[in-house]
Amino acid sequence: MNGNLIIKNASELVTCSGFSAKKGAEMSDLKIIPDGAVVIKKGIIEAVGSTQDIMSGLEKTESDLSDFDIIDAKNRAVLPGFVDSHTHFVFGGFRAEEFSWRLRGDSYMEIMKRGGGIVNTVRATRQAAMEELVQSGITRLDSMLSFGVTTVEGKSGYGLDCDTEIKQLEVMAHLNKIHYVDIVPTFLGAHAVPEAYKGKENAFIEFMTNEVMPRVAQRELAEFCDIFCEKNVFSIAQSRRLLSKAKELGLKLKLHADEIVQTGGAELAAELVATSADHLLQASAEGIRQMAAAGVVATLLPATAFSLKEPYARGRYMIDSNCAVALATDFNPGSCFTESIPLIFALATLYMDITTEEAVTALTINAAAAVDRAKTIGSLDVGKHGDLAVLEYPSYKFIPYHIGISTVDKVVKNGNLVFDRKKGGMTYC
Ligand code: NIG
Ligand code: FE
Repeated sequence: MNGNLIIKNASELVTCSGFSAKKGAEMSDLKIIPDGAVVIKKGIIEAVGSTQDIMSGLEKTESDLSDFDIIDAKNRAVLPGFVDSHTHFVFGGFRAEEFSWRLRGDSYMEIMKRGGGIVNTVRATRQAAMEELVQSGITRLDSMLSFGVTTVEGKSGYGLDCDTEIKQLEVMAHLNKIHYVDIVPTFLGAHAVPEAYKGKENAFIEFMTNEVMPRVAQRELAEFCDIFCEKNVFSIAQSRRLLSKAKELGLKLKLHADEIVQTGGAELAAELVATSADHLLQASAEGIRQMAAAGVVATLLPATAFSLKEPYARGRYMIDSNCAVALATDFNPGSCFTESIPLIFALATLYMDITTEEAVTALTINAAAAVDRAKTIGSLDVGKHGDLAVLEYPSYKFIPYHIGISTVDKVVKNGNLVFDRKKGGMTYC
């Protein structure tokens, strides 16, 4: 495990080359190198090109190939590792019961209003020991890795009190040390109104803003601050208040915006120059225009719309409006209990009029931009982390075509082979 690796003979090296979010038409250009090769040294990409050029380059410099592991990717496409830029993967308990209620016709917001939903998971997460959250976290990260995900964003938000919010973030910090998948932590203390603050939402926002957030920032437990800006949850004014303070404390911004009701969340994201605004099922045309102009990544979560039986976000319209679009799972125990990347590809391409090329961009370089890491991950470029997925097929076009099934055969993280389907899954322990 020295992070030295050569991948050669890839039928398609899908580089997604770039160091910032791709907007509009740029999302269609995957910058593919046919018969490609990558050299990774000590975890960092050192060379990218055609197999012939790369191998003759190594010969010329008299590199000692015995220092490298070698993967022959003949008849296989190679892509950057996927970035899942919106998840809530650290939580206690499950809500399978609620799924049945929703099948019966109850809406997500109705269940939330009568004391179920997020606060149900809050009860279980408050009770869960740190070790339990670490163990379930490992299981979930293992599954994500098997789908080719090499970096994941994870949110707190199932504590709604100081101790549990911090416990969730500490779990993520620990997982980041022990697991191959990199974790980008987000503070989502304003995810729902807890029982004790019903009718006193402003007081809750003040508590999160003045008591909890400064501790999180001071201990550098989060890179981002997020809020569930939604009718009957937190208003635009409350969101502006909390996020402005977060910005002052050096946190970058995300919003759950315009998911169920159009409240002007997209416009607020543009005003605050958030890194991303997420969900956006109901975002207005003006909000989308402002996000494109401000360079806010539109992170779309089709599996949530699917699971809630809500209309999909207007992905095609957003790309045509010159927005940078990312796609993510929104993995969480309520609205969307799936970490399936193949499902995201299926829904985005078949139901949102997003092309396969755009979907690949949306899960690689644009997803990296959604977590402010486009300079270090999300593409196969010299100087970036050696994170990539080797497919079992010769083209990226097989990803949505093999509906609902993972086409990922191998996953490389920082130049080390960490998942190999042929070897029965994880190659480490
Ligand atoms: O992104 N919308 C709010 N938050 C999550 C759902 C969390 C939950 O239901 O537990 C989401 O869909
Ligand atoms: Fe979410």
